[in-house]
Amino acid sequence: MEVVPKVTFVNIGKTVEFESGKLPYQEHGKPESILDVALNFGIQLEHACGGVCACTTCHVHVKSGQQNLTPADDDELDRLDMAADLQLNSRLGCQAVVKGDVTVDMPAWNRNYVSEGGGSMNLGDAIPAAKNSH
Ligand code: FES
Repeated sequence: MEVVPKVTFVNIGKTVEFESGKLPYQEHGKPESILDVALNFGIQLEHACGGVCACTTCHVHVKSGQQNLTPADDDELDRLDMAADLQLNSRLGCQAVVKGDVTVDMPAWNRNYVSEGGGSMNLGDAIPAAKNSH
């Protein structure tokens, strides 16, 4: 049976769905990660490092469906430790691969930078932070 996960982005009130295995890969983050899904639907989730687990700008809070995401590996957990507004349900959007329905929200500090179809606005802050963090 084909799997058609739904991803809801609470802060912009948008739900998108895609057929597993059929989402065109945007070459940012892991294929079918929350970031990949967002970019495929024109939702500009920040991704200052390009989706290679080297920043925290793609940080999201998973409101429901955590079990429908691939588990975080050590690299992601180490990186998340540096994230602002870290919560138990925090994930990096570029690392969490969507396997079923999930609902995510952007941390408040990141919200101003997330827009639908818009450009990236906080690269100036994010890149130095990523460089200094190891
Ligand atoms: S985009 Fe940099 S860690 Fe996800």
